[in-house]
Amino acid sequence: MNASAESTYKGIILAGGAGRRLLPLTHGVSKQLMPVYDKPMIHYPLSTLMLASIRDILVITTPRDQAAFETFLGDGSQWGISLSYAVQEEPKGIAQAFLIGESFIAETPVSLILGDNIFYAEGLADKLSVAAERTQGATIFGYYVTDPERYGVVSFDAAGKALDIVEKPTEPKSHYAVTGLYFYDKQVVDIAKSLRPSDRGELEITDVNRAYLEREQLAVEILGRGTAWLDTGTHDSLLDAAVFVRVIEKRQGLKIACPEEIAYRMGYITDRELEQLAADFGESGYARYLMAVLREER
Ligand code: TTP
Repeated sequence: MNASAESTYKGIILAGGAGRRLLPLTHGVSKQLMPVYDKPMIHYPLSTLMLASIRDILVITTPRDQAAFETFLGDGSQWGISLSYAVQEEPKGIAQAFLIGESFIAETPVSLILGDNIFYAEGLADKLSVAAERTQGATIFGYYVTDPERYGVVSFDAAGKALDIVEKPTEPKSHYAVTGLYFYDKQVVDIAKSLRPSDRGELEITDVNRAYLEREQLAVEILGRGTAWLDTGTHDSLLDAAVFVRVIEKRQGLKIACPEEIAYRMGYITDRELEQLAADFGESGYARYLMAVLREER
């Protein structure tokens, strides 16, 4: 990882939603603050945006949970980024993020990531940086899954060009699910404004992606089999994600999605600032890890 120029893209983490499938865990606490092994879930999508060199980020939460997110994440200055907050009154669809975030986006390109999506792969930062350098059109990511009917599904022609995207098809035309990470140019707000709610009453992100596809401005990048894309919306997938993170972290002694480490390696914070963050974590293993990162780099 190298210090890199700040992307022109802003970022949005969509961390609202009802989290019904995780009840009773989510009765009083947001899904995206649940632990995934050693850190809150939101640290994973936040780290993904940071790896894409995105430093100006809006966190959208339910009204109930906004204060808790602010306590966890603050204004981002500790990590050399800017975090601001907005609420989604009701979960009326992923594409609503662009209406809620309109004044934040302010005519810049924007990346949206779902607050319960975890990405982990060799070379991911490079792939994201390519998407975050595109100034026109949109980039989405396709990932081969066993159960495409649960997702937006993208199908391709023989030459690998995207043909169609369908939300939760009963008979999927491919195994490629569209992941919860999207990069859009400034057209996205107007596209979101033009959408009508679907039969399930939501502003569908699939309709945004289809609008770009119809304009021939949609790039679909494939995340290959060496990539882990995990979502954490059920008790089983939450536990699976935690075990995955534990296995990799124990084997390598390196952390997945440690915002302090990423901020330091990206050049967003100095040696002294990392040392101070470690001191703030007291006698914990997390503090020892941050000090080890610092010693290694020095
Ligand atoms: P889902 O997993 O589809 O929904 P959910 O989190 O409310 O969970 P459940 O189905 O168990 O009730 O949402 C995917 C992600 O997008 C998740 O991080 C929540 C977020 N989301 C919103 O913040 N607002 C929305 O309107 C929708 C549809 C999703």
